[in-house]
Amino acid sequence: MTTAPDKDRVWIFDTTLRDGEQSPGATMTHDEKLEIAELLDDMGVDIIEAGFPIASEGDFKAVSEIAERSRNSVICGLARANFKDIDRCAEAVKNAAQPRIHTFIGTSELHRAIPNLTKDEMAEKIHETVTHARNLVDNVQWSPMDATRTEWDYLCRVIEIAIKAGASTINIPDTVGYTAPMESADLIKRLIETVPGADDVIFATHCHNDLGMATANSLAAVAGGARQIECTINGLGERAGNTALEEVVMALKVRNDIMPWKTGIDTRKIMHISRRVATVSGFNVQFNKAIVGKNAFAHESGIHQDGMLKNKETFEIMRPEDVGLSGTSLPLGKHSGRAALRDKLGQLGFEVGDNQLKDLFVRFKELADRKKEVFDDDIIALMRSGEDAE
Ligand code: KIV
Ligand code: ZN
Repeated sequence: MTTAPDKDRVWIFDTTLRDGEQSPGATMTHDEKLEIAELLDDMGVDIIEAGFPIASEGDFKAVSEIAERSRNSVICGLARANFKDIDRCAEAVKNAAQPRIHTFIGTSELHRAIPNLTKDEMAEKIHETVTHARNLVDNVQWSPMDATRTEWDYLCRVIEIAIKAGASTINIPDTVGYTAPMESADLIKRLIETVPGADDVIFATHCHNDLGMATANSLAAVAGGARQIECTINGLGERAGNTALEEVVMALKVRNDIMPWKTGIDTRKIMHISRRVATVSGFNVQFNKAIVGKNAFAHESGIHQDGMLKNKETFEIMRPEDVGLSGTSLPLGKHSGRAALRDKLGQLGFEVGDNQLKDLFVRFKELADRKKEVFDDDIIALMRSGEDAE
Protein backbone atom coordinates (compact mmCIF):
# COMPACT_ATOMS: atom_id res chain seq x y z
CA MET A 1 0.00 0.00 0.00
CA THR A 2 1.06 3.58 -0.63
CA THR A 3 0.65 6.62 1.58
CA ALA A 4 0.18 8.98 -1.36
CA PRO A 5 -3.38 10.32 -1.46
CA ASP A 6 -5.43 8.70 -4.19
CA LYS A 7 -8.63 10.37 -5.29
CA ASP A 8 -10.68 7.21 -5.87
CA ARG A 9 -9.38 4.86 -3.21
CA VAL A 10 -10.44 4.79 0.44
CA TRP A 11 -8.16 2.92 2.84
CA ILE A 12 -9.97 0.72 5.34
CA PHE A 13 -8.35 0.90 8.77
CA ASP A 14 -9.80 -1.72 11.09
CA THR A 15 -9.57 -1.18 14.83
CA THR A 16 -11.63 -4.15 16.06
CA LEU A 17 -8.60 -5.41 17.98
CA ARG A 18 -7.94 -2.05 19.66
CA ASP A 19 -10.99 0.26 19.92
CA GLY A 20 -13.35 -2.71 19.49
CA GLU A 21 -11.69 -4.66 22.25
CA GLN A 22 -12.03 -1.60 24.50
CA SER A 23 -15.81 -2.31 24.76
CA PRO A 24 -16.42 -3.41 28.32
CA GLY A 25 -16.59 -7.21 28.26
CA ALA A 26 -15.28 -7.71 24.71
CA THR A 27 -11.81 -8.95 25.67
CA MET A 28 -10.38 -11.56 23.29
CA THR A 29 -7.74 -14.17 23.91
CA HIS A 30 -4.34 -14.10 22.22
CA ASP A 31 -5.28 -16.85 19.75
CA GLU A 32 -8.61 -15.23 18.98
CA LYS A 33 -6.82 -11.96 18.15
CA LEU A 34 -4.43 -13.76 15.81
CA GLU A 35 -7.35 -15.44 14.08
CA ILE A 36 -9.27 -12.16 13.61
CA ALA A 37 -6.12 -10.40 12.35
CA GLU A 38 -5.62 -13.15 9.78
CA LEU A 39 -9.21 -12.82 8.58
CA LEU A 40 -8.86 -9.03 8.34
CA ASP A 41 -5.63 -9.35 6.36
CA ASP A 42 -7.26 -11.93 4.13
CA MET A 43 -10.34 -9.83 3.38
CA GLY A 44 -8.24 -6.88 2.17
CA VAL A 45 -8.16 -4.52 5.16
CA ASP A 46 -5.44 -1.96 4.40
CA ILE A 47 -4.40 -1.17 7.96
CA ILE A 48 -5.01 -3.29 11.07
CA GLU A 49 -4.77 -1.52 14.41
CA ALA A 50 -3.72 -4.59 16.34
CA GLY A 51 -3.72 -3.19 19.88
CA PHE A 52 -2.26 -0.78 22.42
CA PRO A 53 1.15 -2.31 23.21
CA ILE A 54 1.83 -0.39 26.42
CA ALA A 55 -1.57 -1.37 27.88
CA SER A 56 -0.50 -4.87 28.94
CA GLU A 57 2.01 -7.61 28.30
CA GLY A 58 -0.77 -9.52 26.51
CA ASP A 59 -1.48 -6.61 24.17
CA PHE A 60 2.22 -6.22 23.42
CA LYS A 61 2.55 -9.93 22.56
CA ALA A 62 -0.57 -9.92 20.40
CA VAL A 63 0.58 -6.87 18.40
CA SER A 64 4.09 -8.35 17.97
CA GLU A 65 2.82 -11.69 16.73
CA ILE A 66 0.24 -10.12 14.43
CA ALA A 67 3.05 -7.92 13.04
CA GLU A 68 5.25 -10.96 12.39
CA ARG A 69 2.47 -12.88 10.64
CA SER A 70 1.02 -10.01 8.60
CA ARG A 71 1.06 -10.49 4.85
CA ASN A 72 -0.66 -7.61 3.09
CA SER A 73 -1.95 -5.21 5.72
CA VAL A 74 -0.06 -2.41 7.42
CA ILE A 75 0.14 -3.28 11.13
CA CYS A 76 -0.42 -0.42 13.49
CA GLY A 77 -0.14 -0.04 17.25
CA LEU A 78 -1.55 2.76 19.40
CA ALA A 79 0.59 4.96 21.64
CA ARG A 80 -0.17 7.98 23.83
CA ALA A 81 1.92 11.12 23.42
CA ASN A 82 4.94 10.03 25.43
CA PHE A 83 8.25 8.40 24.53
CA LYS A 84 7.66 5.29 26.66
CA ASP A 85 4.39 4.42 24.88
CA ILE A 86 5.89 5.18 21.49
CA ASP A 87 9.03 3.08 22.11
CA ARG A 88 6.93 0.14 23.26
CA CYS A 89 4.71 0.47 20.22
CA ALA A 90 7.69 0.65 17.86
CA GLU A 91 9.09 -2.50 19.45
CA ALA A 92 5.78 -4.34 18.99
CA VAL A 93 5.28 -3.46 15.31
CA LYS A 94 8.94 -3.65 14.25
CA ASN A 95 8.69 -7.04 12.52
CA ALA A 96 5.73 -6.14 10.37
CA ALA A 97 6.41 -5.86 6.65
CA GLN A 98 4.68 -2.47 6.90
CA PRO A 99 4.69 -1.08 10.46
CA ARG A 100 2.83 2.03 11.59
CA ILE A 101 2.76 3.94 14.89
CA HIS A 102 -0.48 5.72 15.72
CA THR A 103 0.03 8.33 18.40
CA PHE A 104 -2.64 10.61 19.83
CA ILE A 105 -3.46 13.26 22.40
CA GLY A 106 -6.75 14.87 23.44
CA THR A 107 -6.74 18.42 22.00
CA SER A 108 -10.13 19.87 23.01
CA GLU A 109 -10.32 22.18 26.00
CA LEU A 110 -11.89 19.40 28.08
CA HIS A 111 -9.10 17.00 27.21
CA ARG A 112 -6.27 19.53 27.57
CA ALA A 113 -7.42 20.02 31.16
CA ILE A 114 -6.72 16.36 32.05
CA PRO A 115 -2.89 16.55 31.79
CA ASN A 116 -3.26 20.24 32.65
CA LEU A 117 -1.29 21.47 29.64
CA THR A 118 -1.53 24.92 28.09
CA LYS A 119 -2.08 25.12 24.35
CA ASP A 120 1.61 25.93 23.82
CA GLU A 121 2.80 23.09 26.05
CA MET A 122 0.58 20.63 24.22
CA ALA A 123 1.75 21.91 20.84
CA GLU A 124 5.36 21.32 21.93
CA LYS A 125 4.53 17.81 23.13
CA ILE A 126 2.92 16.99 19.77
CA HIS A 127 6.01 18.21 17.94
CA GLU A 128 8.35 16.13 20.15
CA THR A 129 6.32 12.91 20.15
CA VAL A 130 5.53 12.83 16.43
CA THR A 131 9.19 13.58 15.67
CA HIS A 132 10.22 10.76 18.01
CA ALA A 133 7.80 8.28 16.41
CA ARG A 134 8.97 9.34 12.96
CA ASN A 135 12.57 8.59 13.95
CA LEU A 136 11.52 5.02 14.75
CA VAL A 137 9.26 4.19 11.77
CA ASP A 138 8.49 5.77 8.40
CA ASN A 139 4.74 5.48 8.72
CA VAL A 140 3.25 7.62 11.51
CA GLN A 141 -0.38 8.43 12.10
CA TRP A 142 -1.38 11.22 14.46
CA SER A 143 -4.79 11.89 16.05
CA PRO A 144 -6.08 14.93 17.91
CA MET A 145 -8.52 13.05 20.16
CA ASP A 146 -11.91 14.81 20.46
CA ALA A 147 -11.05 16.72 17.27
CA THR A 148 -14.70 17.51 16.56
CA ARG A 149 -14.92 19.49 19.83
CA THR A 150 -11.50 21.15 19.50
CA GLU A 151 -11.34 24.90 18.75
CA TRP A 152 -10.88 25.42 15.01
CA ASP A 153 -7.72 27.56 15.16
CA TYR A 154 -6.03 25.25 17.60
CA LEU A 155 -7.00 22.17 15.59
CA CYS A 156 -5.42 23.68 12.45
CA ARG A 157 -2.31 24.66 14.41
CA VAL A 158 -1.66 21.22 15.91
CA ILE A 159 -2.37 19.37 12.67
CA GLU A 160 0.19 21.57 10.91
CA ILE A 161 2.73 20.75 13.64
CA ALA A 162 2.09 17.00 13.28
CA ILE A 163 2.45 17.16 9.50
CA LYS A 164 5.70 19.14 9.76
CA ALA A 165 7.01 16.62 12.31
CA GLY A 166 6.46 13.82 9.78
CA ALA A 167 2.98 12.30 10.28
CA SER A 168 1.70 10.97 6.96
CA THR A 169 -1.85 10.24 8.16
CA ILE A 170 -3.91 12.72 10.13
CA ASN A 171 -6.89 11.11 11.79
CA ILE A 172 -9.83 13.27 12.85
CA PRO A 173 -11.63 11.43 15.66
CA ASP A 174 -15.22 12.14 16.57
CA THR A 175 -14.39 10.57 19.91
CA VAL A 176 -17.79 10.99 21.53
CA GLY A 177 -19.99 10.62 18.43
CA TYR A 178 -21.00 14.29 18.62
CA THR A 179 -20.70 15.43 15.03
CA ALA A 180 -23.40 15.38 12.33
CA PRO A 181 -22.89 14.38 8.67
CA MET A 182 -22.87 17.91 7.18
CA GLU A 183 -20.35 19.05 9.83
CA SER A 184 -18.20 15.98 9.28
CA ALA A 185 -17.86 16.66 5.54
CA ASP A 186 -17.30 20.36 6.08
CA LEU A 187 -14.67 19.88 8.79
CA ILE A 188 -12.45 17.65 6.64
CA LYS A 189 -12.90 19.83 3.58
CA ARG A 190 -11.95 23.02 5.45
CA LEU A 191 -8.96 21.35 7.13
CA ILE A 192 -7.63 20.20 3.77
CA GLU A 193 -8.14 23.67 2.32
CA THR A 194 -6.63 25.49 5.31
CA VAL A 195 -3.78 23.55 6.89
CA PRO A 196 -0.41 23.97 5.13
CA GLY A 197 0.89 20.59 3.93
CA ALA A 198 -2.57 18.94 4.11
CA ASP A 199 -2.40 17.94 0.45
CA ASP A 200 0.60 15.71 1.13
CA VAL A 201 -1.05 13.54 3.79
CA ILE A 202 -4.06 11.28 4.09
CA PHE A 203 -6.91 12.49 6.24
CA ALA A 204 -8.73 9.76 8.16
CA THR A 205 -12.14 9.72 9.79
CA HIS A 206 -12.75 7.88 13.08
CA CYS A 207 -16.34 8.04 14.24
CA HIS A 208 -18.18 6.76 17.29
CA ASN A 209 -21.84 5.92 17.20
CA ASP A 210 -23.29 7.65 20.26
CA LEU A 211 -26.03 9.30 18.19
CA GLY A 212 -26.25 6.49 15.62
CA MET A 213 -24.49 8.62 12.98
CA ALA A 214 -21.07 6.95 12.73
CA THR A 215 -21.59 5.44 9.28
CA ALA A 216 -23.17 8.60 7.86
CA ASN A 217 -20.42 10.75 9.40
CA SER A 218 -17.65 8.54 7.99
CA LEU A 219 -19.10 8.62 4.48
CA ALA A 220 -19.64 12.38 4.72
CA ALA A 221 -16.00 12.78 5.77
CA VAL A 222 -14.96 10.87 2.66
CA ALA A 223 -17.10 13.21 0.57
CA GLY A 224 -15.19 16.04 2.27
CA GLY A 225 -11.84 14.54 1.26
CA ALA A 226 -10.93 11.92 3.88
CA ARG A 227 -9.32 8.85 2.32
CA GLN A 228 -9.11 6.50 5.31
CA ILE A 229 -12.10 5.21 7.25
CA GLU A 230 -11.48 3.81 10.72
CA CYS A 231 -13.99 1.16 11.65
CA THR A 232 -14.63 -2.15 13.37
CA ILE A 233 -16.37 -5.39 12.50
CA ASN A 234 -20.02 -5.30 13.67
CA GLY A 235 -19.38 -1.73 14.88
CA LEU A 236 -17.83 -3.13 18.05
CA GLY A 237 -16.38 -0.38 20.24
CA GLU A 238 -16.62 1.81 23.31
CA ARG A 239 -20.15 2.80 24.42
CA ALA A 240 -22.39 2.68 21.30
CA GLY A 241 -19.44 1.47 19.24
CA ASN A 242 -17.42 2.60 16.22
CA THR A 243 -18.32 2.90 12.56
CA ALA A 244 -19.16 -0.60 11.28
CA LEU A 245 -16.77 -1.78 8.58
CA GLU A 246 -19.45 -3.80 6.80
CA GLU A 247 -21.74 -0.76 6.58
CA VAL A 248 -19.28 1.72 5.06
CA VAL A 249 -17.83 -0.88 2.70
CA MET A 250 -21.22 -2.04 1.41
CA ALA A 251 -22.53 1.53 1.20
CA LEU A 252 -19.56 2.44 -1.00
CA LYS A 253 -20.15 -0.65 -3.13
CA VAL A 254 -23.94 -0.39 -3.50
CA ARG A 255 -24.08 3.41 -3.92
CA ASN A 256 -20.94 3.79 -6.00
CA ASP A 257 -23.08 5.86 -8.38
CA ILE A 258 -23.11 8.76 -5.91
CA MET A 259 -20.06 7.83 -3.77
CA PRO A 260 -17.43 7.02 -6.38
CA TRP A 261 -14.72 5.65 -4.08
CA LYS A 262 -13.35 2.13 -4.00
CA THR A 263 -12.13 -0.04 -1.14
CA GLY A 264 -9.97 -3.14 -1.44
CA ILE A 265 -12.31 -5.30 0.66
CA ASP A 266 -13.48 -8.71 -0.56
CA THR A 267 -17.05 -8.26 0.65
CA ARG A 268 -17.82 -11.99 0.38
CA LYS A 269 -15.73 -12.48 3.53
CA ILE A 270 -17.88 -10.12 5.62
CA MET A 271 -20.35 -12.59 7.08
CA HIS A 272 -17.76 -15.07 8.24
CA ILE A 273 -15.65 -12.50 10.07
CA SER A 274 -18.78 -10.89 11.53
CA ARG A 275 -19.79 -14.23 13.05
CA ARG A 276 -16.29 -14.92 14.36
CA VAL A 277 -16.03 -11.48 15.98
CA ALA A 278 -19.48 -11.94 17.55
CA THR A 279 -18.42 -15.32 18.94
CA VAL A 280 -15.00 -14.35 20.27
CA SER A 281 -16.09 -11.00 21.72
CA GLY A 282 -19.32 -12.42 23.14
CA PHE A 283 -21.21 -9.47 21.60
CA ASN A 284 -24.17 -10.83 19.66
CA VAL A 285 -25.22 -8.99 16.53
CA GLN A 286 -28.69 -7.50 16.78
CA PHE A 287 -31.18 -9.23 14.43
CA ASN A 288 -31.93 -6.08 12.45
CA LYS A 289 -28.32 -4.86 12.18
CA ALA A 290 -27.56 -3.56 8.66
CA ILE A 291 -25.66 -6.05 6.44
CA VAL A 292 -24.83 -8.72 9.04
CA GLY A 293 -27.99 -9.03 11.18
CA LYS A 294 -29.92 -12.31 11.00
CA ASN A 295 -32.85 -10.45 9.38
CA ALA A 296 -30.82 -8.28 6.97
CA PHE A 297 -31.70 -10.58 4.07
CA ALA A 298 -34.84 -12.23 5.51
CA HIS A 299 -38.42 -11.52 4.43
CA GLU A 300 -41.44 -12.82 6.33
CA SER A 301 -44.43 -10.88 5.10
CA GLY A 302 -46.58 -12.31 2.31
CA ILE A 303 -46.25 -9.27 0.03
CA HIS A 304 -42.46 -9.18 0.38
CA GLN A 305 -42.07 -12.95 -0.04
CA ASP A 306 -44.27 -12.95 -3.14
CA GLY A 307 -42.23 -10.06 -4.58
CA MET A 308 -38.93 -11.76 -3.77
CA LEU A 309 -40.03 -15.01 -5.41
CA LYS A 310 -40.80 -13.09 -8.59
CA ASN A 311 -37.88 -10.64 -8.64
CA LYS A 312 -35.24 -10.32 -5.92
CA GLU A 313 -34.69 -6.64 -6.64
CA THR A 314 -38.17 -5.81 -5.33
CA PHE A 315 -36.97 -5.86 -1.73
CA GLU A 316 -33.19 -6.30 -1.79
CA ILE A 317 -30.67 -3.64 -2.80
CA MET A 318 -27.67 -5.95 -2.59
CA ARG A 319 -27.10 -9.63 -3.24
CA PRO A 320 -26.74 -11.78 -0.10
CA GLU A 321 -23.95 -13.66 -1.91
CA ASP A 322 -21.94 -10.41 -2.02
CA VAL A 323 -21.62 -10.44 1.77
CA GLY A 324 -20.96 -14.16 1.96
CA LEU A 325 -24.45 -15.60 2.49
CA SER A 326 -25.77 -18.47 0.38
CA GLY A 327 -28.99 -16.61 -0.42
CA THR A 328 -32.06 -14.79 0.73
CA SER A 329 -34.11 -16.32 3.51
CA LEU A 330 -37.89 -16.42 3.49
CA PRO A 331 -38.75 -17.51 7.03
CA LEU A 332 -42.32 -18.66 7.45
CA GLY A 333 -44.44 -16.88 10.04
CA LYS A 334 -47.93 -15.55 10.50
CA HIS A 335 -47.36 -12.78 7.94
CA SER A 336 -46.32 -15.21 5.21
CA GLY A 337 -48.50 -15.98 2.22
CA ARG A 338 -49.36 -18.97 0.05
CA ALA A 339 -46.56 -18.33 -2.46
CA ALA A 340 -43.87 -18.72 0.21
CA LEU A 341 -45.56 -21.82 1.65
CA ARG A 342 -45.69 -23.42 -1.79
CA ASP A 343 -42.04 -22.48 -2.38
CA LYS A 344 -40.97 -23.99 0.96
CA LEU A 345 -42.94 -27.20 0.26
CA GLY A 346 -41.16 -27.44 -3.10
CA GLN A 347 -37.76 -27.06 -1.40
CA LEU A 348 -38.71 -29.84 1.00
CA GLY A 349 -39.68 -32.09 -1.91
CA PHE A 350 -43.50 -31.89 -1.69
CA GLU A 351 -45.60 -31.23 -4.77
CA VAL A 352 -49.09 -30.10 -3.74
CA GLY A 353 -52.19 -29.26 -5.74
CA ASP A 354 -54.25 -26.12 -5.19
CA ASN A 355 -56.81 -27.79 -2.91
CA GLN A 356 -54.19 -29.42 -0.73
CA LEU A 357 -52.32 -26.09 -0.49
CA LYS A 358 -55.55 -24.36 0.57
CA ASP A 359 -56.06 -26.84 3.40
CA LEU A 360 -52.41 -26.75 4.45
CA PHE A 361 -52.40 -22.98 4.43
CA VAL A 362 -55.28 -22.83 6.93
CA ARG A 363 -53.47 -25.20 9.29
CA PHE A 364 -50.17 -23.39 8.73
CA LYS A 365 -51.77 -20.06 9.75
CA GLU A 366 -53.22 -21.66 12.92
CA LEU A 367 -49.75 -22.90 13.80
CA ALA A 368 -48.06 -19.60 12.88
CA ASP A 369 -50.41 -17.72 15.20
CA ARG A 370 -49.04 -19.82 18.06
CA LYS A 371 -45.34 -19.80 17.05
CA LYS A 372 -42.93 -16.94 16.28
CA GLU A 373 -41.36 -18.83 13.38
CA VAL A 374 -42.46 -21.98 11.57
CA PHE A 375 -39.53 -24.26 10.82
CA ASP A 376 -39.01 -26.91 8.15
CA ASP A 377 -39.82 -29.69 10.63
CA ASP A 378 -43.14 -28.00 11.43
CA ILE A 379 -44.04 -27.94 7.73
CA ILE A 380 -43.10 -31.61 7.34
CA ALA A 381 -45.25 -32.44 10.39
CA LEU A 382 -48.17 -30.47 8.90
CA MET A 383 -47.82 -32.42 5.63
CA ARG A 384 -47.69 -35.75 7.43
CA SER A 385 -50.66 -35.01 9.68
CA GLY A 386 -52.62 -34.01 6.53
CA GLU A 387 -51.65 -37.31 4.83
CA ASP A 388 -52.64 -39.33 7.95
CA ALA A 389 -56.05 -37.67 7.97
CA GLU A 390 -56.68 -38.74 4.35
O1 KIV B 1 -11.99 7.72 19.64
C1 KIV B 1 -10.84 8.14 19.68
O2 KIV B 1 -10.57 9.35 19.78
C2 KIV B 1 -9.76 7.16 19.62
C3 KIV B 1 -8.37 7.72 19.50
C4 KIV B 1 -7.40 6.95 20.30
C5 KIV B 1 -8.00 7.79 18.06
O3 KIV B 1 -10.00 5.99 19.58
ZN1 ZN C 1 -12.15 5.64 19.12
